[in-house]
Amino acid sequence: MLQLPSKFIMAPLKLGYSDGTGVITQRHLDFYGERNKHIGAIIPEPLYMDAGLREIPTQIGIDSDNKIPGLQRLNEVIHQYGAKSIAHLNHPGRMANPKIPGNFFWSSTSKPCENGGAIPEKMDRKKMDVVIKLFVDSAKRAVASGFDMIELQFGHGYLLAQFISPAVNDREDEYGGSFNNRVKFPLEVAKAVRGAVKIPIITRISGDEMIPNGFHLEEMVAFSKMLEETGMDAVHVSAGSACSTPPWFFQHMFIPKGKTWEMAGKLRKELEMPVIFVGKINSAKDIKFIENSYGAEYLALGRALVADPDFVGKYLGETDGLIRPCLACAEGCLGGVKGGKGLGCVVNPRVNTGLQKVTITSSAKRFAVVGGGLAGMEVAITLHDEGHQVDLFEKNELGGQFNLAFLPPNKSNLKEIVDYFVEEIMQQQEPKVNVI
Ligand SMILES: Cc1cc2nc3c(=O)[nH]c(=O)nc-3n(C[C@H](O)[C@H](O)[C@H](O)COP(=O)(O)O)c2cc1C
Ligand code: SF4
Repeated sequence: MLQLPSKFIMAPLKLGYSDGTGVITQRHLDFYGERNKHIGAIIPEPLYMDAGLREIPTQIGIDSDNKIPGLQRLNEVIHQYGAKSIAHLNHPGRMANPKIPGNFFWSSTSKPCENGGAIPEKMDRKKMDVVIKLFVDSAKRAVASGFDMIELQFGHGYLLAQFISPAVNDREDEYGGSFNNRVKFPLEVAKAVRGAVKIPIITRISGDEMIPNGFHLEEMVAFSKMLEETGMDAVHVSAGSACSTPPWFFQHMFIPKGKTWEMAGKLRKELEMPVIFVGKINSAKDIKFIENSYGAEYLALGRALVADPDFVGKYLGETDGLIRPCLACAEGCLGGVKGGKGLGCVVNPRVNTGLQKVTITSSAKRFAVVGGGLAGMEVAITLHDEGHQVDLFEKNELGGQFNLAFLPPNKSNLKEIVDYFVEEIMQQQEPKVNVI
């Protein structure tokens, strides 16, 4: 077992909140500080192990000892209410960002990702040793920084998955070809890190690459058993690849909910070590379903905690209020990271905007809000929560033009945010807002 104060773990999400030098900033402390209650552990965004291996220019680094004080400060924030912290270590291989000056690209192959990216250098033994040392040094720095656990990335189309994948790995040496050959280098990394640190190590895998010629669950069950024998402590089951199947990796709304849970459920039957479930877990119904269907012990939440930092507290009944639902749209979060502004959220205006938490006013007034679309309802609820009296004028239905957004196929889940606002307004016998 992982000895966490709660079964919920925050999944790693790139934030893009650093300043270009890889240090922890106040934006990181504020973001994780808002999400550190009722949660078992937080996995902050992947920490780059060398400045030439960044996926985004504003990523956090663990590449040198001068990063340790900032990471210690981050850990103090995560630990404030008892949550554990998990350092996610990843080598992107050929998926390092080609637009970042100084980045370098190593892989099991010299083929670039078919959807764009730099031409990588096919790694020789010397480069493999360099990579193993990077993981070991970073793991030791994670311990020195006060992290309680480490998560090693074996999935999502990054370097170690580039070795495991039969679609990517075209080597003819002892590290290519058969399954046992393809997993050899990833297992060398696992063994080296296991030998270097005593804290628990979680392994993140893609249960399936989601391409016909890629690896599938059967191989990942066999690989996970090998990881278990190597002394790994848990497996965190995601899907897809940042190169070939990104919507699976970040679980876009068009991806069917539950495929990652099904794979995690199968792995759970085969392994002694705990399995972490992840992927679009964004309601009490999802949590109950996963627990009842698969007996899940640990659940990782990514965007649900972006959309609603109090998701877990509200689910547990320890924090008042309705859960503000994540729409799995990836617009504000992934869109914000890719666009260079940093992670934001289309349903939570307090993410990455500097907006302060609601405070009760000492001079209550009466406000009229004209238009009951999403923005109008947000303003009306905020004014009410600040202690004002609010009249909300809407000619048609609450939700406004957004009521058209969920009519096209595969977009029905967008209705959840309208339902949330309407319920927030109408929830009490005495509605929060006077709707006219
Ligand atoms: C903006 C964003 C950034 C992400 N960055 C990473 C990453 O760097 N490494 C990783 O392993 N997963 C990353 N993920 C995937 C998440 O860890 C998680 O597996 C995925 O979002 C599904 O969980 P969720 O539906 O609870 O958000 C990212 C997802 C999003 C939306
Ligand atoms: S931007 Fe969309 S997908 Fe991302 S956290 Fe917000 S609602 Fe969820």
